[in-house]
Amino acid sequence: MSEFQAPIGTHDVIGPESYEWEGLIGTFAEFAHRFGFSLVISPMFEDIGVFNRGIGENSDVAKKEMYVFTDRGDRTYALRPEGTASVVRAFVQHNPTTPWKAWYATPAFRYERPQAGRYRQHHQVGVEVLGSDDPAVDVEVISLAWRFYEAIGLKRIRLLINSMGHDECRGKYVELLKAHLKSNASSLCEEHQKVWEQNPLRVLDCKKAPCIEVTGKGPMLPDHVCADCSNHFEKVVAGLTSLGISPELNPRLVRGFDYYTRTTFEFVADSLDGAQNAIGGGGRYDKLAEELGGKPTSGIGFGSGIERLLLTRQAEGVSSALVDRSVDVFVIDTTDDDLATSLCDELRRHGLSVERAFDGRSMKSQMKLADKSGARFALLIGPQEQAAGQVTIRDLRSADHEQAQSQVSRDEVTAAIFNLITK
Ligand code: HAM
Repeated sequence: MSEFQAPIGTHDVIGPESYEWEGLIGTFAEFAHRFGFSLVISPMFEDIGVFNRGIGENSDVAKKEMYVFTDRGDRTYALRPEGTASVVRAFVQHNPTTPWKAWYATPAFRYERPQAGRYRQHHQVGVEVLGSDDPAVDVEVISLAWRFYEAIGLKRIRLLINSMGHDECRGKYVELLKAHLKSNASSLCEEHQKVWEQNPLRVLDCKKAPCIEVTGKGPMLPDHVCADCSNHFEKVVAGLTSLGISPELNPRLVRGFDYYTRTTFEFVADSLDGAQNAIGGGGRYDKLAEELGGKPTSGIGFGSGIERLLLTRQAEGVSSALVDRSVDVFVIDTTDDDLATSLCDELRRHGLSVERAFDGRSMKSQMKLADKSGARFALLIGPQEQAAGQVTIRDLRSADHEQAQSQVSRDEVTAAIFNLITK
């Protein structure tokens, strides 16, 4: 084992796995473009206040999972545990025209107990829209995610949805919930017996049987949101349904950050293990911009874990490649004049993917590399070809190499390769 390893809970992504990543992020970028979003890149770390105020000081992530550090100038920063708070901070700082539609692909850092599908550095693709509370925006954001999942071949995905109401109606609901939890506190799970009061909504999300039983008999959010919020929610559900996307109402879906208001949603993959089956989640956060010092501005977005999306593709047995990273041509040069350099340059300028060997390897060794590269064609230039001003083209996918071989003049090699590729 080498002396240094990637830190616990992190992983290196190297080829060929990284082709999947390229394909996935590329497909997301394409969908974001189709839906009118532009890329936002913001720092990987922020003043700790951005996250404490953004996701809520009492959230598990802020309390137990953030990577916090002090820099040499004595400023306290945190590595981004999620994408939304930084994007909203950037929105407040730059004040762009609204609706502002931004997408991102970013690492996120959380000090969690690592396991399959749960890491200390994970990666998300996501979008945020600021400046509109129109339910059609909720529908657009959720449908972007859904269409993207379809495009990467996922079939066994469910959309869970809920409304958290706005501050006022949720506040009234929380009082009702508190009263219910107070009179049943001793029946809650061990952890929540102690901490239910800090954040009663979190108890709704608890997966342990005692909490499920107690909350199941108590008041549920959707029955207590005001007429405006309820109306908004109905429009979101109707809009999704009209697109053939069927949301499942889940009154327990409160999610882990404090910024959510009104619509909240989660995408779960039935092919993944229950504890890590959320492949994406998001919702509205109509107070967040204000919380971070901006003008009151509605917002909504979602984030989706890249690792979990790739695990889901595996679990569902999706085999279609997300991007073509095959090699077109391998150039084998056994002359003393490095003719490969100019030949590779010419082919690459014409858009082909071209590989070659270095270090003056033997013909046999270069041929092995060509086979290993998976290239469709090998171009051979030896002293004979050099003298005749020619190149030998060999089709590496043909069983009979000698048969599948032809010679063309050096000037015509690019045209000849294109001819063969498009045949
Ligand atoms: P989140 O639900 O915490 O939401 O994370 C979004 C997605 O990131 C999850 O559904 C999951 O796929 C993935 N994920 C989260 N934590 C881990 C982890 N430790 N290891 C692997 N994958 C993970 C947010 O982060 C919000 N910012 C989403 C949002 C955007 N809400 C509004 N706009």
